[in-house]
Amino acid sequence: MHHEQYIQRCLELSLLGKGRVSPNPMVGAVLVFEGRIIGEGWHKEYGGPHAEVNCLASVKEEDKHLIPHSTMYVSLEPCAHYGKTPPCANRLVQEQVKEVIICNTDPNDKVDGKGINILKQAGIHVTTGILEAEGRWINRRFFSMQERKRPYVILKWAQSADGCIAPLDRSRYQLSTPHSQQLVHKWRTEEDAIMVGYTTALNDDPQLTARLWKGKNPLRIVVDKNLQIPTTHKLYDDEAETWVLNSSKSGREDNVEYVQLDFNENIIPQLLDKLYSADKQSLIVEGGAKLLESFISAGLWDEARVFATEAKLSNGIPAPKLQDGVLAEQTPVGSDVLHLYINKNNPYPFMPGYEL
Ligand SMILES: NC(=O)c1ccc[n+]([C@@H]2O[C@H](COP(=O)([O-])OP(=O)(O)OC[C@H]3O[C@@H](n4cnc5c(N)ncnc54)[C@H](OP(=O)(O)O)[C@@H]3O)[C@@H](O)[C@H]2O)c1
Repeated sequence: MHHEQYIQRCLELSLLGKGRVSPNPMVGAVLVFEGRIIGEGWHKEYGGPHAEVNCLASVKEEDKHLIPHSTMYVSLEPCAHYGKTPPCANRLVQEQVKEVIICNTDPNDKVDGKGINILKQAGIHVTTGILEAEGRWINRRFFSMQERKRPYVILKWAQSADGCIAPLDRSRYQLSTPHSQQLVHKWRTEEDAIMVGYTTALNDDPQLTARLWKGKNPLRIVVDKNLQIPTTHKLYDDEAETWVLNSSKSGREDNVEYVQLDFNENIIPQLLDKLYSADKQSLIVEGGAKLLESFISAGLWDEARVFATEAKLSNGIPAPKLQDGVLAEQTPVGSDVLHLYINKNNPYPFMPGYEL
């Protein structure tokens, strides 16, 4: 039971790195001596020290002599390779910690059991699989890249009380409340890429940045097969990087990357391959209906976040219909209700109680 409590704490700590560590996983670590937490740490930013190192660094001077008698709890198998930092497994051996308790093993080819072997060969007792499902849910973006070789895909839209996402003339119409909009901006800081369809980009001229929350802007992606969106549109500004998916042009111009795809084939798998190659762990698709439906019909989505609003739009554009979606949670957000659907084929089962 106490193993679960400490791993739970590791998972909470790991979430503090959300939006800052991709393409690395989020990881938290706790060092425990006889029921007392003497150190805590998490992976704070990409390229920075790992959770175990930050945890050891947090131990007070007067407690340092306790390290060889303590148990390290960590939410992911300690790494075994020299990347931007030296291997954490070696560091734990060097510190002679007594025992290591792990939530998830690391499927990354460079680790994949090697970290555990280093520890075991040094005589350190290792236990794995504590709150494993919770860890897989929290790091679903990372696990998707490692195991499925594609980013985790989140669909997002707002719909009116009568089930529409826009007026029939496709004009811009704000359905959700300011509270929901701010939450969406928070989500933008947490995903690596954001995408809209051609019509939404042309008509709404969205900026697709995280202006209402502190954090990084995601890579912006727009479908513009024939390059018809004026370069005076906001997606071309220098607030963030932009990929323009089109049928004729490739190459980079300032912060805009022209990504040429074969529009005679389904572009969604092609895009996901490109994102995988660019180490982008996740994509949030923000509409419109046609783009969302193309992800749904390809079966290439993992969760959908749908705001049911009080606005009425009789005779508008119908909201997408989710195939294979299971309603997991409903949460009031101001006067809107956020419906979370999980694709029934999503290999990372939803765990209630953790933030999205
Ligand atoms: N309520 C909300 O949450 C929300 C969110 C976003 C947008 N909207 C509203 O939705 C309306 C626009 O929706 P929409 O369905 O008409 O347009 P859309 O999805 O924004 O764009 C559709 C166009 O994008 C291109 N496209 C999309 N998916 C593609 C794919 N898989 N492969 C190739 N091309 C693809 C096609 O362009 P071509 O025809 O040039 O090939 C298609 O006609 C706007 O009124 C906007 O304000 C609402």
